[in-house]
Amino acid sequence: MAMELESLAMTLLLVVGLLIGLAGSSPPPDPVVCARGTSDCTITNAYGSFPDRATCRAASVTYPSTEEELVAAVAAAPAARRKVKVATRYSHSLPKLACPDGRNDTIISTLRLNNTVRLDTAARLITVESGVLLRDLIRAAAAAGLALPHSPYWSGVTIGGLLATGAHGSSLWRNGGAVHEYVVGLRIVTPAPASQGFATVRELGAHHLDLGAAKVSLGVLGVISQVTLALQPLFKRSVTFVERHDSDLEDQVVAWGRRHEFGDLTWQPGLGKVVYRQDDRVDVSSPGNGLNDHLTLRSRAALGRVDARRTEEQLEENGTDMARCAAAETTSAGDRLMHRQPGDGLLTSCKWDPRLGATFVYNAAISVPLHKATAFVADVKRLRDLNPRAFCGLDARGGLLARYLRASSAYLGKPEDAVDFDITYYRSYAAGAPRAHADVIDELEQMALRKYGGFPHWGKNRNFAFDGAVDRYPKAGEFLEVKGRYDPDGLFSTKWSDQVLGVDGASPSVVEEGCAMEGLCVCSDHSHCAPVLGYLCRPGKVYKEARVCSLQPADAGTGARLDGEL
Ligand SMILES: Cc1cc2nc3c(=O)[nH]c(=O)nc-3n(C[C@H](O)[C@H](O)[C@H](O)COP(=O)(O)OP(=O)(O)OC[C@H]3O[C@@H](n4cnc5c(N)ncnc54)[C@H](O)[C@@H]3O)c2cc1C
Ligand SMILES: *[C@@H]1O[C@H](CO)[C@@H](O)[C@H](O)[C@H]1NC(C)=O
Ligand SMILES: *[C@@H]1O[C@H](CO)[C@@H](O)[C@H](O)[C@H]1NC(C)=O
Ligand SMILES: *[C@@H]1O[C@H](CO)[C@@H](O)[C@H](O)[C@H]1NC(C)=O
Repeated sequence: MAMELESLAMTLLLVVGLLIGLAGSSPPPDPVVCARGTSDCTITNAYGSFPDRATCRAASVTYPSTEEELVAAVAAAPAARRKVKVATRYSHSLPKLACPDGRNDTIISTLRLNNTVRLDTAARLITVESGVLLRDLIRAAAAAGLALPHSPYWSGVTIGGLLATGAHGSSLWRNGGAVHEYVVGLRIVTPAPASQGFATVRELGAHHLDLGAAKVSLGVLGVISQVTLALQPLFKRSVTFVERHDSDLEDQVVAWGRRHEFGDLTWQPGLGKVVYRQDDRVDVSSPGNGLNDHLTLRSRAALGRVDARRTEEQLEENGTDMARCAAAETTSAGDRLMHRQPGDGLLTSCKWDPRLGATFVYNAAISVPLHKATAFVADVKRLRDLNPRAFCGLDARGGLLARYLRASSAYLGKPEDAVDFDITYYRSYAAGAPRAHADVIDELEQMALRKYGGFPHWGKNRNFAFDGAVDRYPKAGEFLEVKGRYDPDGLFSTKWSDQVLGVDGASPSVVEEGCAMEGLCVCSDHSHCAPVLGYLCRPGKVYKEARVCSLQPADAGTGARLDGEL
């Protein structure tokens, strides 16, 4: 085994303490904006755009600050014949989950449901309102000497929102890396008959059967009011980044997760490089400041980022492979400067803040069943070997982040142990604009989903990824049964949630001219690509069943018969 160990950095940090320094920074705005007071509103996500670029409208928004106000807000909806969508403080999900169906619908925001309700130190339980930010939950628990063992890497999400989409960190140990595995109770407000005042609070304890539906609910069962989570005694984590060649990744991809409690890995296929995150639990008395200011998630100086975006647009849309690969090398080297700080006195913000018009990306995350992860890695290598330079754009954004999850008791949680592969890549502000080597990324995603039976993260991904995905959940039927009982009139459902859940055979794919260029569909006709620009619908290069928009036939250059027909 080639041992090219290079220890990049060593820090000791507090439990999942991804505490982003916010001093002097600009928090994102409320995603709900109304033309008149709390009426005539629009909602978007933290990126300022849903994958289909929809403008989402609502008649009104309410901001309950107690459970009683929340019950009243839910009750008002059926009384006024309105449907409801729940919005959060920052709206971080990419898909249209938070988007109301029509302009007559209403939004209930959890912005003011942001208090800790109870902290039982002896029983190691915390109960919070659903709008509490992950960051504040972690702080409240830590103040009592307790820790939430696993969480997403970004702490600006709410507990209600992150649970709804099954968000997670990384672990194969015990219950695994998903937050919903640590939920031991919740209170949810659902619609009710007029005789019960149109709304009711349901309390689901640890052994209530419906908890399996409510823990990961896509927001379609009602509004979660409070959540109770099981905590652990506070600990620290010892983190070391180990960089190696990717030659033995097939062997390591599962082994790494078994070896380290919080392990993950980042793979840059174009560069042939893997950065393993060796991350283990250590005693809370271990030295270290307990801070993990994650490089890609910290707030940053605005200055220069708009220019950087223009350079990127040029590179992605009209650049050469050589230029893109040079850029990937530079970013990769830049990542080693782990503690570079934003300049003093400059305005800082989240780098994806739409007010800047700088970072604009897609984010796909697909969990491949653990026992298929080795074969998936081998297939991606085959795709890479055909043209390593096609991966430079992906590598420049960190490559593939692999994280671990255990099989879940949640009906819409991952049904089996899995490795979640997360990729972030360039998105154009112009709908339908070609991206460099988009065919390779599309093939990779289709491979993960269709060849390896992957599960798309409910809060990430483009439309096509959800097509048929719900059929891979053995408990989807149980979920729909609970939905039918809790919300028989579908007040919390939208066209989008019905499409994602496959209700009455609905599909989230939008089949129209150019749809595959945007990930709204998998192409089945050249018109779904951009024939005028030379992009035609063609089979994948390694996964032949894939259908991708490509400038060249799959077997161009191999001397084989050219076969662009489908
Ligand atoms: C920068 C960034 C980093 C991320 N990192 C990770 C990561 O490391 N791991 C990971 O798994 N995910 C990650 N995500 C995805 C993120 O965790 C999910 O998108 C999460 O759902 C966002 O939570 P939110 O509070 O913004 O909810 P929203 O996106 O606003 O809402 C999500 C859904 O939940 C519903 N909802 C919200 N609150 C309630 C409630 N109280 N009752 C009922 N329904 C409700 C909404 O209606 C909507 O349908 C990341 C996202 C971003 C932008
Ligand atoms: C919205 O409400 C208005 C006023 O009640 C009504 O006239 C209109 O038809 C409704 N629109 C939809 C799409 O339901
Ligand atoms: C809750 O949110 C409100 C509105 O943003 C804010 O003023 C308040 O400080 C927050 N409370 C807590 C406990 O975080
Ligand atoms: C790429 O080139 C096309 C055609 O010359 C041009 O219209 C487009 O604006 C260019 N894109 C960028 C981002 O420079």
